[in-house]
Amino acid sequence: MLGRTFSIFLLACLQVIFAVPHDASFSQSQVIERDVAVIGGGAAGTFASVRLREDYNTSIVLIEPKSHLGGHVSTYLVPETNTTLEYGVQSYVQNGPEADFFARFGVSTQPFAARRLTPINVEITTGGLLKNYTTPSANATNEAFGRWLAIVSKYESFLEPGYWDFPQPPNIPADFLIPFEDFAKTHQLEAAVPRIIAISGVGYGGIRDLLTLHIFQAFGATLTRQVLENRLLTQVGSNSLVYQRALALLSDDVLLSSTIQTVKRTETGAEILVTQGKKQYTIRAKRLLFTAPPSLTTLAQYGLDDKETSALSKWTIPAEFVAVVKIPCIPENTSVSFLPSAAAPSNQLALKDWPYSLRLDSTGPSGSNLFRIIFGSNTTLPAEEFKKIVTTSVHTLQEAGTIQGNCSVDFKAISEHTRPQWKLTPQQLKDGFVQELYALQGYRATWYTGYAWAAPYSSTVWAFTDDVLVRLLADLK
Ligand SMILES: Cc1cc2nc3c(=O)[nH]c(=O)nc-3n(C[C@H](O)[C@H](O)[C@H](O)COP(=O)(O)OP(=O)(O)OC[C@H]3O[C@@H](n4cnc5c(N)ncnc54)[C@H](O)[C@@H]3O)c2cc1C
Ligand SMILES: *[C@@H]1O[C@H](CO)[C@@H](O)[C@H](O)[C@H]1NC(C)=O
Ligand SMILES: *[C@@H]1O[C@H](CO)[C@@H](O)[C@H](O)[C@H]1NC(C)=O
Ligand SMILES: *[C@@H]1O[C@H](CO)[C@@H](O)[C@H](O)[C@H]1NC(C)=O
Ligand SMILES: *[C@@H]1O[C@H](CO)[C@@H](O)[C@H](O)[C@H]1NC(C)=O
Ligand SMILES: *[C@@H]1O[C@H](CO)[C@@H](O)[C@H](O)[C@H]1NC(C)=O
Ligand SMILES: *[C@@H]1O[C@H](CO)[C@@H](O)[C@H](O)[C@H]1NC(C)=O
Ligand SMILES: *[C@@H]1O[C@H](CO)[C@@H](O)[C@H](O)[C@H]1NC(C)=O
Repeated sequence: MLGRTFSIFLLACLQVIFAVPHDASFSQSQVIERDVAVIGGGAAGTFASVRLREDYNTSIVLIEPKSHLGGHVSTYLVPETNTTLEYGVQSYVQNGPEADFFARFGVSTQPFAARRLTPINVEITTGGLLKNYTTPSANATNEAFGRWLAIVSKYESFLEPGYWDFPQPPNIPADFLIPFEDFAKTHQLEAAVPRIIAISGVGYGGIRDLLTLHIFQAFGATLTRQVLENRLLTQVGSNSLVYQRALALLSDDVLLSSTIQTVKRTETGAEILVTQGKKQYTIRAKRLLFTAPPSLTTLAQYGLDDKETSALSKWTIPAEFVAVVKIPCIPENTSVSFLPSAAAPSNQLALKDWPYSLRLDSTGPSGSNLFRIIFGSNTTLPAEEFKKIVTTSVHTLQEAGTIQGNCSVDFKAISEHTRPQWKLTPQQLKDGFVQELYALQGYRATWYTGYAWAAPYSSTVWAFTDDVLVRLLADLK
């Protein structure tokens, strides 16, 4: 039940009459009136809801399809040890908003320390050791990152936290439009590539042809500095803690496990029909704040017009999964990367030249035989196909003798993170893609935030969300 008092506001211009489904199993539709309906309760939506209600005295309802808040945060509870392990979001860039947000919920942070793992590089088709591939030296990596930082710093104000100041088409820097392979060779950045892709995951299917802009977006100046200075943070306890406490605070203003059926929008408000199990709600809001991945699919119920459809139809939608699996015969404290043989002997730019990327990282606790699977593909595929690829890949390791013994792959938890990605042509940028996308902000009573609109990390998304809220609140007045 939504018990919180809400502002009494009638959407005078909204003359939409809802046909409530004549399904007797639905209870009477409850009407909820709010200033803002926040769609999606991941990093952006949870943060925005708390800020709006608690700091801006703005009534909200938060609508989330899953049974919990947190989005890309995935926490697995190891039953044997009653300890948690993070298999989604790992760490936070220090960027400002995260400090207040964590402090508000009494969550402390600690320096993020990646587990020390022994790398095992295997050839992706055979599972045999890719002995003729060498990773760059630490020295070469640092030098390449020094050059990288000098370059991304120049473009920081265009790209972080969001793209409000992205250059108009005639002024787009030539660097943005160059295929990354050419750019990396010109600036001798190859040695930075393994770390850039390991941390950001950018470039399923290959990074050589991606526009350099997309690598800048995936690994911008703030992230680069903090990775180099070891300044990333993680929550003490688990990365889910802040979301659990935000849910407790927002309580009745959150509709979990709920599905948006229809959305009717005008310039001054929206009416949303939401079902939650057998319950049904009619939400009337002055504004929508859409924080889910912005695709034609997630916005299918919103009656998009031509302008919206055009702006939102240029994404590439790959597949991304993370999982926790138990594989007793892979040694503890190892990280197994499946690489294309084209990466040998040291072609770092070819590391992603395969339709999918797969890595298995030992997670501990000691003796648990648990691994975190990080997987992404350049085409969409169902969870069953993902599981098959993982299982088959582990079998190739056994058959090639890379790992001793014959053991099963036992999936303990799977989380899908498939979402639209930036993968543009130079022409699309010259045609004003970024401006077209941002012109949707505030259009038809709808504001947007989330990874697709900003530097795609939780705390940069929060900084961007703060910018959106200022504009949304001005629009509400
Ligand atoms: C595996 C993985 C690991 C990552 N690790 C890190 C990390 O360590 N550090 C970091 O800073 N960033 C990390 N990120 C980046 C991540 O993009 C951001 O941290 C952050 O989660 C982005 O917030 P968001 O609100 O845009 O998206 P999300 O957090 O994904 O939130 C979107 C929400 O919308 C909901 N939703 C989906 N579809 C609909 C719909 N149709 N209608 C309504 N709601 C819907 C989803 O259930 C979800 O709750 C990681 C991303 C992935 C995929
Ligand atoms: C918050 O908003 C409500 C409803 O609009 C209003 O009555 C109240 O005075 C506001 N409180 C503050 C502290 O601004
Ligand atoms: C598991 O850990 C939590 C939090 O650390 C604690 O509250 C709980 O009592 C523990 N449960 C068991 C069965 O030990
Ligand atoms: C490296 O080894 C793989 C097999 O592990 C082989 O397929 C590939 O041709 C070799 N590449 C080079 C450059 O030697
Ligand atoms: C490491 O790089 C420095 C320059 O930054 C160079 O002087 C030094 O010789 C390099 N060391 C090795 C082992 O390559
Ligand atoms: C996916 O990647 C492979 C190789 O890396 C490439 O051949 C293929 O064309 C890509 N597919 C799509 C849809 O981009
Ligand atoms: C793995 O590393 C942990 C410390 O991170 C250590 O306690 C453990 O003994 C290691 N396991 C093996 C098999 O070396
Ligand atoms: C592993 O065991 C399964 C049956 O449990 C068997 O089908 C398979 O051939 C074995 N593989 C190897 C490499 O021994």
